[in-house]
Amino acid sequence: MNTPGRRVHEPLTEAVLTDGFLAGEIVDNPWQHLEALRAVAAVSWNEVGGYWIASHHREVQQASVDPARFCSGQGILTFEIGHQYPAPPTMMHTDPPDHTRYRTLVAPAFRPSAMKALQPHIEAHAQRLYDSFATRSVVDLVHELTVPFPLLVICELLGVPADEWEKFYLWSEVSVPGASNHTAEEKLVIQGEMVRYLLGVVAHKKLHPSDDVFSILAAAGLTDFEIAMFAVQLLTAGNETVRNTMSAGLVALAQNLDQWQRLRADRSLIGSAAEEMLRWSSSVIYFMRTAVTDTELGGAHIAAGEHVVLHYASANRDESVFGPTAHQFDIARSPNPHLGFGFGAHYCIGAALARQEIAVVLNEALDRYESIELVGNAQRTRSSIIAGISNAEFALTPAS
Ligand code: HEM
Repeated sequence: MNTPGRRVHEPLTEAVLTDGFLAGEIVDNPWQHLEALRAVAAVSWNEVGGYWIASHHREVQQASVDPARFCSGQGILTFEIGHQYPAPPTMMHTDPPDHTRYRTLVAPAFRPSAMKALQPHIEAHAQRLYDSFATRSVVDLVHELTVPFPLLVICELLGVPADEWEKFYLWSEVSVPGASNHTAEEKLVIQGEMVRYLLGVVAHKKLHPSDDVFSILAAAGLTDFEIAMFAVQLLTAGNETVRNTMSAGLVALAQNLDQWQRLRADRSLIGSAAEEMLRWSSSVIYFMRTAVTDTELGGAHIAAGEHVVLHYASANRDESVFGPTAHQFDIARSPNPHLGFGFGAHYCIGAALARQEIAVVLNEALDRYESIELVGNAQRTRSSIIAGISNAEFALTPAS
């Protein structure tokens, strides 16, 4: 039993979050462990990791909206604890006033008119990918669709040739802990190549501006380093997340064919289906904050300098918010206040783009297939940060 405010070593916290790879049995079914953790306390202490875990929806929201109490500047992932960066590695690692300045400068790149202009390109990329496997009835949709698709969109967003996507894939994989098998030395070499490439693009865009993100950032007065930093963030933040939300969403639809048929019959549910995929997949498992002062959260007394994991995946299954159907995949769920995109000032700046991408991929699948069926099991990656699916084969029945 956890006593409110007392530091309690709670073995469950170790089961749901480690600093790298999750144990196989947790990856395949984290939900019962998270449910048990929520039942113990809203905020529990992980003795081995040395951080708190906020597992309830309410506390994750509370900590997300108060940078004066819980800041991002001292790391947002548990392996960053104690690590000092010479400059913020991403906008996510900043607090006001720096964060407000960055966010204001980059927001124009995500304005509705920019997203609208991307729509035909997003549709064309999706159609080309679906066309590429149109003659086959069994397809690994992760490899052939959900991996390349968000990378092709990011190439459009950044204004670099679409055939660069495979390079971007490698760069993104090595930037997300637990996503690739490269050694630390190999990662450094690959990341060096990435930064050199991005700085080259920045230099080119300054000479030949267009209406892409790089050009907008260069015109906004950001330094070359800041632009490259932002590009790395877009690459990782807008790639693995979209990929794994789509992969998990397609798996969920294949496993719940009544939901697939319902969506085919009523396309007005596309929007709520995308939200449910975001809740269901919780592709970003957690981000972290650090207490700025001695404070209290969910009955736990948190000392200044201690770290708090905001467990989005747990919050997205919190029965006190999503009710008795929290563990059901329901494409018509309403309301659906999931925290898949975070909450507060750092709320995902690419949320509209991600929703657009998910809707395009879904609409195209619904147009083309009568039904989709999973062949074997989807293979999950073991990252403790991104809920990833590395392979998932589907049997596709064409629409008549
Ligand atoms: C399903 C897809 C996505 C998910 C689940 C997701 C999730 C998140 C979450 C949870 C945060 C909050 C970070 C925090 O509070 O510390 C965030 C922030 C962010 N996301 Fe996304 N994201 C997605 C797609 C995208 C896309 C497509 C882009 C851009 C191409 C993007 C760019 C960003 C950026 C730049 C931030 C930082 C915002 C800030 O610090 O103010 N994301 N995202």
